[in-house]
Amino acid sequence: MRELSGFPVAWGKRKASDTCLVGNHGAGDGGELMPAGRMTSGIVRRGDRIWRPMGPWSPAVHEYLRHLESAGFGGAPRVLGIDDDREVLTYLPGEVAADPDWQPGHGHRLPAFTRTEQALREAARLLRGLHDAAAGFEPVRTGYRFHPHPPLPGEIVCHGDLGPWNTVYRDGIPVGFIDWDGAGPATPLADLAAAAWVFVPLAPADQLVEAGFDRPDDMAARLAVFVTAYGLTDPASIVPELANCLLTVTEAIKYLAPGAAGAADSLEHVARRLRWIDSVAPMLASELGRA
Ligand SMILES: Nc1ncnc2c1ncn2[C@@H]1O[C@H](COP(=O)(O)OP(=O)(O)O)[C@@H](O)[C@H]1O
Ligand SMILES: [Mg+2]
Repeated sequence: MRELSGFPVAWGKRKASDTCLVGNHGAGDGGELMPAGRMTSGIVRRGDRIWRPMGPWSPAVHEYLRHLESAGFGGAPRVLGIDDDREVLTYLPGEVAADPDWQPGHGHRLPAFTRTEQALREAARLLRGLHDAAAGFEPVRTGYRFHPHPPLPGEIVCHGDLGPWNTVYRDGIPVGFIDWDGAGPATPLADLAAAAWVFVPLAPADQLVEAGFDRPDDMAARLAVFVTAYGLTDPASIVPELANCLLTVTEAIKYLAPGAAGAADSLEHVARRLRWIDSVAPMLASELGRA
C-alpha cells in the first residue's frame, strides 16, 4: 500500500490460510483464493470476476469506480454488483508485484520488471490518466475510509493507496490499479508525490540496494522521469509535496485503529521518513530544477 498497509501496526500480515470463508464466497466451486494482501483476506476469483470483502466505505468507492468507467478509464476494475457481503469486481489479468515479507525500514523486494524505467514511466502515465478521468467528478457518497468528506477546492478523488503492490503489470508494464479501499480526496500533486515515494521509490540508499537497485544514486533522476512522464510542467514543484503527503498519511492512522502502541510505531515510521526526505530535499530540488 502507499505505506498505509505498510504501517508497522497490529493488523500485520495475513495469510491465505487465516481466511474464514462462508457460504458461496469460499474458494470452492472452482473459485481461486487470491494471495492475501496486508489488509484484505478472503478475496476469491472465479473466471474474470473477483469477490472481495467490503467495508463501510464501499458505496463511495463504487460510485467512484463507476465514474472512472464512464469516463473511459480502463485501469481500474469495474463494479459488477454486490453479492451478500462481497463486492463483485472485474479481475484484471496480469501480475501484481508484492513482497509479502516486507517490514518498515526495509526495501521492498519486488520482481525486476517493476524497476525498469519503462515501468516507471507507464505507472506515471496511468496515474495521469486516472487523475484526468477523476477531474470533474462530484461524488454524492463521500464516506471514504480515511478522508470521509467531499473533495475540497483543488482536490479530486484519488486511489489513495498506490504502489506496485496494488498495480497490475502485463509484460512488465503497469496496466491497472486494484484495491481501491483507500480512495478519497487529495490534490493531484499530493497524490503524485505519494505515488513517487513508492514507484520511484524514494528511500535511503541501503534500502534501495536491498530492493534490488544497482545504482541508488539514480533516485533523483528516476523521480524526474516519473513526474515528467506524468506531465508535471515544473518537476521541482513535487519536492515540498513529498513531505506534505506524509502528513496526510498520519490522518489515516486513527481510522485503522492500531491501538496506542501501534499508532506510536506508525508515527515514528512517518517521522523517520520526514527527517530523511528533509535531508535529501535540497539535492532533489537541485536535480529536478535541471530536469
Ligand atoms: N481486481 C483485481 N484484479 C486482479 N487481481 C486482484 C484484484 N483484486 C485483488 N486482486 C488480487 O488479490 C490480492 C489482494 O488484493 P488487494 O485488494 O490488494 O488486498 P489488500 O487490501 O489486502 O491489499 C492482490 O495482490 C491481487 O493478487
Ligand atoms: Mg492491496
